[in-house]
Amino acid sequence: MKFSFKFASALAILMLAVPVTALAAPKKITLGFSQIGAESEWRTANSESIKQAAKDAGIDLKFSDAQQKQENQIKAIRGFIAQKVDVIAFSPVVESGWETVLKEAKSAGIPVILSDRAVDVKDDTLWVSFMGSDFVEEGRRAANWLVADLNKKGVKGDVNIVELQGTVGSAPAIDRKKGFEEILKSHPNLKITRSQTGDFTRAKGKEVMEAFLKADKTIKVLYAHNDDMAIGAIQAIEEAGLKPGKDITIISIDAVKGAFEAMMAGKLNVSVECSPLLGPQLMEATKDLVAGKKLPKRIVTKEGVFPAEVAAKEFPNRKY
Ligand code: AHR
Repeated sequence: MKFSFKFASALAILMLAVPVTALAAPKKITLGFSQIGAESEWRTANSESIKQAAKDAGIDLKFSDAQQKQENQIKAIRGFIAQKVDVIAFSPVVESGWETVLKEAKSAGIPVILSDRAVDVKDDTLWVSFMGSDFVEEGRRAANWLVADLNKKGVKGDVNIVELQGTVGSAPAIDRKKGFEEILKSHPNLKITRSQTGDFTRAKGKEVMEAFLKADKTIKVLYAHNDDMAIGAIQAIEEAGLKPGKDITIISIDAVKGAFEAMMAGKLNVSVECSPLLGPQLMEATKDLVAGKKLPKRIVTKEGVFPAEVAAKEFPNRKY
């Protein structure tokens, strides 16, 4: 009894001597993330990757869905500043129009990471790091696949290509067009005869492809800036009585599971990979920033190209 009283007193003295701050749980890191919306299978996988990785890393994630509107993203970023989050990350729906809000974040001392898409601002100190794919390279890969495919088939004459572009003013739409056209310059027989936005959605991809097919009977190739628009276009092609993947060669970007299913059904010829699994990398970068580490200005995602011939073999390995 005597011993336990002494022990309890010693413990009490010891506890008083330890500063309160040392006993409190470490402060959770807060990350404010503004997502574009849920326009595609890719985007859904990207949101899931970010939410899961935040849970795994023990980061308090404030996730906001902008429903594809820049004004909603700006509002969300201002909200994150007011809440004094540790780090802000966002995937910008379009490239331009971010100067003011990024200056506000900088003045508040909150670092900003660009995830998936870039912004077009003069002062690149307004953001600390950009992680995501090289969209220009994806466009080049799509065109290089086409050139190789036509060579294999011995096609030498004119080839009419229609293009379904992503959201107007977005980095992937601008860059995927640029990369594709860069390769086409050395192949004057390959011509983009029609090009219009399908806003990265299945519904719009189908609608625009229907219009292309009504206006033009000479379409040989479809280049879609993402799989969802290609899948929508496949429906339009079938409804027009043509065979997608045979009468019209179809090239798209993302390599989501839906694209693999279309390739295995012989309706899509190739999908260039664009990985949405950016969550773990983003949480790592957030922790590094809070720990005072410097991030590389550009972190490029490693990706491949999946033609229809490898789809069945690769499908079981796909994570999105
Ligand atoms: O920014 C990446 C692009 O956005 C994906 O290719 C597309 O599917 C998405 O909506």
